[in-house]
Amino acid sequence: MRRAELIPSLLVPDEAAFRARIALLGDVAQAVHIDVMDGVFVANTTWADPAAIRNMHLPFVIEAHLMVTHPERLVDDWIMAGARRVFVHVEAPGNPLAAVEAMRAVGREGGLAINPETPVSRIADLLAELDAVLVMGVKPGWSGQAFQSVALSKVAELKRLRPELRVGVDGGVTPPIAADLAALGCDAVVAAHALYDAPDFKKAVEDFEKALAG
Ligand code: DX5
Ligand code: ZN
Repeated sequence: MRRAELIPSLLVPDEAAFRARIALLGDVAQAVHIDVMDGVFVANTTWADPAAIRNMHLPFVIEAHLMVTHPERLVDDWIMAGARRVFVHVEAPGNPLAAVEAMRAVGREGGLAINPETPVSRIADLLAELDAVLVMGVKPGWSGQAFQSVALSKVAELKRLRPELRVGVDGGVTPPIAADLAALGCDAVVAAHALYDAPDFKKAVEDFEKALAG
């Protein structure tokens, strides 16, 4: 079985917290998932300043998760920031597909995220135009929520419909859940609480790596 990837998330209130997390991840992560919240599409905000992040020259693959309305208005900023992959919500008011197309037009990856209540059927006709799908394991907005198992069947369904599509899962993922997701063919899991709030951060990373090795 192909190894799935662990992508630590950065859901932070300010730049100091962002830098602290980046320092922690320096040794262990190849990619980071930056949570971008506007206080409108979700009732929370995060620090995620694309100009400042560009100037950090981070040694990671950057994936941006835009939990915002009108994500098409932000996507150029994230291209400038160096994001390899951007996820926008299919549920977002505005033109999320234009954001996906803007990423693909510059040779980056564009994907759609789907909330727990959104069925795969909502995006089934669009899969050929996407590089990736992000299946939410929680209602977006906060770290530390319990995983909703509906995400498991969505991963299986997406992989059945389009095996070559990159499928990631975000929210509530723990090492045992990561093992279940990897067995279904999931390509990447995003995690915050199960990593940063674990008693031993390095051991939590190892537990995820073992779970994802299949
Ligand atoms: C939720 C965010 C997630 C979050 C995951 O709105 O999109 O990326 O950081 O955090 P945990 O792993 O704590 O659910
Ligand atoms: Zn996220």
